Amino acid sequence: MCGIVGYIGYGDASEFLLEGLRRLEYRGYDSAGVAIIDPDGVVSVRKTTGRIERLASALASAPLPGSIGIGHTRWATHGPATEGNAHPHYGGDRLLTLCHNGVIENFQALKTKLESEGYVFQSATDTEVIAHLISSCLDRQESPVRDADPHAHLAQAVKEALEQIRGTYGLAIVFRDYPGVIIAARLGSPLVLGVGTDEHFIASDASPLVGHTDKIIYLSDHQIAVLTADSLRVTHRDHGRVQPSVEALQADTSDVTLNGYSHYMLKEIFEQPESLKNAMRGRLSEDDATAMFGGLNLTPQQLGSVDRIILTACGTSWHAALLGEYLIEEFARIPVEVEYASELRYRNPPVDPGTLVFAISQSGETADTLGAIREMKRKGHHTLAICNVVGSSIAQEADGGIYLHAGPEIGVASTKAYTSQCLVLSLLALYFGRMRHLSFDAGQRIINSLHGLPSKVLAALQTGEEVKQIAAKYCDATNFLYLGRQYNFPTALEGALKLKEISYIHAEGYPAAEMKHGPIALVDEHTPSVFIVPHGFVYDKVMSNIEEVKARGGPIIAIVEEGDTRVAELADDVVTVPSVDEFLQPFVSIIPLQLLSYHIALLRGCDVDKPRNLAKSVTVE
Ligand code: G6P
Repeated sequence: MCGIVGYIGYGDASEFLLEGLRRLEYRGYDSAGVAIIDPDGVVSVRKTTGRIERLASALASAPLPGSIGIGHTRWATHGPATEGNAHPHYGGDRLLTLCHNGVIENFQALKTKLESEGYVFQSATDTEVIAHLISSCLDRQESPVRDADPHAHLAQAVKEALEQIRGTYGLAIVFRDYPGVIIAARLGSPLVLGVGTDEHFIASDASPLVGHTDKIIYLSDHQIAVLTADSLRVTHRDHGRVQPSVEALQADTSDVTLNGYSHYMLKEIFEQPESLKNAMRGRLSEDDATAMFGGLNLTPQQLGSVDRIILTACGTSWHAALLGEYLIEEFARIPVEVEYASELRYRNPPVDPGTLVFAISQSGETADTLGAIREMKRKGHHTLAICNVVGSSIAQEADGGIYLHAGPEIGVASTKAYTSQCLVLSLLALYFGRMRHLSFDAGQRIINSLHGLPSKVLAALQTGEEVKQIAAKYCDATNFLYLGRQYNFPTALEGALKLKEISYIHAEGYPAAEMKHGPIALVDEHTPSVFIVPHGFVYDKVMSNIEEVKARGGPIIAIVEEGDTRVAELADDVVTVPSVDEFLQPFVSIIPLQLLSYHIALLRGCDVDKPRNLAKSVTVE
């Protein structure tokens, strides 16, 4: 939630800031603003409500020249989405200007204290507290700290202020009297630095840096960076000055632009054959008929003694976890529990020493998932992350992990990250299975099926045209049911979530047989039921459930496997997907459901990539 950017160098700051904010817009899109320091050292702020394009127009009609600046795109937490609450915010008598991503929990107490000291608040945000607090720390410095770094006293004031704050922050700060420096800091909210030639960049994630530099630093919690055009100094609250590790940023501009597609969601749906290949690349061993992972950081003894697995996540990632439970229990016979991270973090379940905890998160920043993994770590469990965003908070927090390598996912509704999470979980099922019960032969068969999966997903993408027609037929419905069993129960949940998220139609995902215990009361001629009914051991059972809906006059949309003829006799609309092994059916059957929600949302005039009230990365509880 919220995205921040910063630039310091000799180029045009507003150009980088605007483009960077466009790339971060998925993090929040209710208002935006920039602060730019002009060549005479004067800081000017421009803010608008609404999307980044409004800010771009404001800057186009009244440009702010300068080669140092910070910017922000907001998802409101404290205070409505007004221009006054948009960032950047001033601290003190405009002594400093800052952008913030995160939440300050003790802001009310700090605000009262600062007000009693004479600070006047212009907004309803928690952020303004940080700005005034840093200003008050600067004001109090009688003999500013001086060392080789002429800006050390600024960093010292920031450090002192942050010590009084309880909450999370990613910060970018410019100073009225020191126009050649930006200070960045993070705790619990993501922040990266880009290292260029005579220029430095700040951003909430790597995407704004793409095309500007391929050198990236993932700032860690409690680090403060002091940036000038040609210098960079990082200190840690407890360790003093640290040497940041500069890593290679592997992405090109096509990863963060639409590349000819009308929406990021559509682009990402069509990227799935490739993202699945990337998730399995280098992770399948034909010789041992198993999967391989480089970063679990567990000894063979520890791996052998795992007797329970907890998968914790939120939203779509939770649906992937549910499929993971089915797969790991089936292949490896290890008991698995799937926990909503928001529940797990405040529960106190008995957890044995042989329990392994996986946090699954596309962004790696979801506050509840981060909270849950911290809680599990505190209790002494080995924690692992399955994340897409490299260097993200959850990836940093966990003891080890597996990256999805799906590339940036920008559409708020998750698509390619979901299938990549499911893929990584099937690799884990194979891995643990081969350590326990699965034969070499069974391992080989699973590997062969996995190798064939990307081409099957590519074929499933060909259903686009028929799905579009089905979307036109049902786009005015106000309720949908999504029904599937076993491996396709998570598919039903995910299909329903996709529709809700982007088209604002109420949809419920249910295990098909459970429908009789409630949702069947919703069935009428206006409520379409989407059945996921590929061949397999529950096929006949699902057929009976279809009959039950049919008998009550409910329209039926069915996702079937090639060669099926029975379902068409009952269903109103049928979409055929390629035949795959049963454990891979969720990968092909989710494709038409993603496309269905996309086309329905388009027909209803919804903003597919930026649905109302949602944000891609939920960094608040
Ligand atoms: C938000 C997003 C969802 C996502 C969920 C979990 O609600 O809108 O698309 O599934 O957060 O996000 P994560 O990054 O942890 O997978």
